[in-house]
Amino acid sequence: MRKFESTKELRIKKTPLEQVIGQENAVEIAKIAARQRRNLLLVGPPGIGKSMIGDGIASLLPKPEHALFVVNNPDNPQRPTVVVRNEKQIRAFEKKMADAGGSLVRVEKAPRKVTEILGYRCSNCGTLSSPNEESCPQCGKDKFGSASDASIEDALKKIIPSEISTLRASVEMTQSLPSGKKERCVYQRHGERTLLRFGEKAIKKQEELEDYAEAVLVPLERSPFVEATGASETEILGDVRHDPYGGGEYGVLPFERVVPGAVHESHEGVLFIDEISHIRDLQRSLLTAMQKKTFSIVGKNPQSAGASVKVIDVPCDFMLVAASNIVQVEEINPALRSRITGNGYEILLNTFMPDTKENREKFAFFVAQEIRKDNSIPHASSAAVDELLKDACKRAKVMEGAKKSITLRLRSMGGIVRMAGDMAVAEDRKLIERSDVKEAVKKSVSIEEQIVYRYGSVSNGLRSDFEKKLGDKNYFI
Ligand SMILES: Nc1ncnc2c1ncn2[C@@H]1O[C@H](COP(=O)(O)OP(=O)(O)O)[C@@H](O)[C@H]1O
Ligand SMILES: [Mg+2]
Repeated sequence: MRKFESTKELRIKKTPLEQVIGQENAVEIAKIAARQRRNLLLVGPPGIGKSMIGDGIASLLPKPEHALFVVNNPDNPQRPTVVVRNEKQIRAFEKKMADAGGSLVRVEKAPRKVTEILGYRCSNCGTLSSPNEESCPQCGKDKFGSASDASIEDALKKIIPSEISTLRASVEMTQSLPSGKKERCVYQRHGERTLLRFGEKAIKKQEELEDYAEAVLVPLERSPFVEATGASETEILGDVRHDPYGGGEYGVLPFERVVPGAVHESHEGVLFIDEISHIRDLQRSLLTAMQKKTFSIVGKNPQSAGASVKVIDVPCDFMLVAASNIVQVEEINPALRSRITGNGYEILLNTFMPDTKENREKFAFFVAQEIRKDNSIPHASSAAVDELLKDACKRAKVMEGAKKSITLRLRSMGGIVRMAGDMAVAEDRKLIERSDVKEAVKKSVSIEEQIVYRYGSVSNGLRSDFEKKLGDKNYFI
């Protein structure tokens, strides 16, 4: 191995896929899959880099380009619709909304009578005060005393108090502009000392958008990697939340209660599902989603007000990276599996790699990565890495029966690194030393190893357990 004092000297690779060690074949196929947007089934035991590869694929994909919005359907609120917009379209829409917004006007700059009607000014003495105060702090009289007087209308030529202005919240009028032009406008109560003014253009836009309401379903800025391991139906396929007020006057409109599923959140990205056979019936829905590239969102709880809500054809164009251990491959829905292989790859990952100079070096990089990632433990001396390698070789032998090999069950190796790091920290050391690793290894003997110590091998241990069960007459009752 190349000589180094500590893992501090090792320059860690930048991309997630380059950081995966010992799975060269899988990484190579993963790169092809990313380029061609194929699906992937990764097979192997836990902790050997399946999620890492999924995440690595996502990092190779272009940034998601579209956001999804749910839009209220005023004619049938139970059937909200979906709108897809790219960044440019989002900007254009925001501008349209902004055009419909009012401009702030300070109370001193607003027409005198408007400020009286909206409660900013005492109609008796003219003193300004908060519109929330009923009576004038200056003269003590009811501020609105004569504000509804017909003379106001004369003074302003034309004031048509709009519907809400009976609550003195807004007033509509025709105003003469400095240019001499006349414009229809609305003043609205806003802050303690500010009003909102909507000009002709804004009013028109507002009328246009009157019934328009939408909510973000899947934002543009999002992670292209969505991990839905062991997720429930609603987490994978989406849901419509219950409305505690039953959708009545105080209820939240259905479109606001629509929740995307992982299939939608991974639109244009990677959907990673570990233990794919565990999501049993959902595999069929997943297959449908992959075939149609859209999946309707419906309320899943039949008792809930969400059950009657449906948003049809919500986009979900994702790359599926599914993972499974060897035993459960057979339990994967055959239709889903053939969909994966028909448009992608199945890869059996390695659980160990030969103990060569090159692979020892890769292992040292793995140790450095784990330390960097943890960010709270010191680097490891080269002697400590040697000791970790010794343990990694032992593990390959115990778990896989592989001689002269290094284990790739690296999640648990990472655990040893962190434990050794904690010990070095406790001892105030600048580096993780050999002794720290020895101590950590001693403390973290796996069940498999404990079985080997007791029974000679894992299979012996299994057999002894099984024979005991057979011998126990009550076992099968
Ligand atoms: N092949 C590998 N190369 C580098 N680190 C690994 C590898 N496999 C596992 N690890 C480490 O273990 C952690 C868990 O791995 P993960 O990808 O979640 O395993 P899996 O999905 O196969 O259960 C990773 O975050 C990484 O720190
Ligand atoms: Mg994982």
